[in-house]
Amino acid sequence: MNASVLRRTVLRLIDRPRRFSRASRESDDRERLRDGSSADAGTPRARSPHRRGERQSRETYHAVVNIIVTSLKGGVGKSTTSIYLAAAGVDRGYDPVTLIDADPQASCAEWLELWPLAGITVVEAPSERTATRAIARAEGLVVVDTPPGNERITQSAVAVADAVVIPTRAGGVEYSRVSATIELIPKGTSYGVVICAARLGTNDLDAALAWWKEQKVEVWGVIPERVSIAAGPEARLSREGLENYDAVLARALRGWR
Ligand SMILES: Nc1ncnc2c1ncn2[C@@H]1O[C@H](COP(=O)(O)OP(=O)(O)OP(=O)(O)O)[C@@H](O)[C@H]1O
Ligand SMILES: [Mg+2]
Repeated sequence: MNASVLRRTVLRLIDRPRRFSRASRESDDRERLRDGSSADAGTPRARSPHRRGERQSRETYHAVVNIIVTSLKGGVGKSTTSIYLAAAGVDRGYDPVTLIDADPQASCAEWLELWPLAGITVVEAPSERTATRAIARAEGLVVVDTPPGNERITQSAVAVADAVVIPTRAGGVEYSRVSATIELIPKGTSYGVVICAARLGTNDLDAALAWWKEQKVEVWGVIPERVSIAAGPEARLSREGLENYDAVLARALRGWR
């Protein structure tokens, strides 16, 4: 067992939220604001154009909102979407922002371990029991990444959702798994699909958009296929990805602030 795996295991056992170097990053930001040097584009906090100079006057939101990112289908963009939504939440002034990683693969937890993002607390909760408890305890904007193909975790997470974001891809094979996911969402809970890694201007994308319209399922976003968004924890978040996911977050939060 290498050191990183050992550390994650210990942290999982004590089941405590971890706050990643937020204070030091904030003090870095303050330094930059003071001396006027250019902000590091590596964090959403620093990247945002309205951060510099205006930060003191920006509103901070403390509302408790649970956004569940889920799909029974694997590899569609759930973890990528969760990271970007949480980062967009920090950028919008939500405080705190908690990302609950309910997937035993721990993709989000690993991502944030390798590339911490100021303002995001990650909680690893890789079972139905721990995920339910973590969601109940979390404050502020809560984004939950769920594992593929696990109906139990998905069902208990969507039961307490304020909004459900369903990442999907363009292409006919996706529809049945998304429909099965939608069936788990309680009546009255808002949800929308996000088409991830979309090839803009293709027939596949047009067909997918037409299909969801016909099904009366809202499309909350179309995220273009980009190497920069796919880069994951090896690179800073993409500006284009943040802008696209900010629009998804705005849609998910409609009516919540
Ligand atoms: N907008 C995008 N452009 C290009 N690649 C993307 C985009 N979004 C996600 N990807 C890539 O798609 C793959 C699957 O994404 P991700 O890991 O987020 O999916 P997932 O649904 O969480 O998978 P799993 O079900 O295994 O947890 C990854 O390689 C990711 O980098
Ligand atoms: Mg994942």
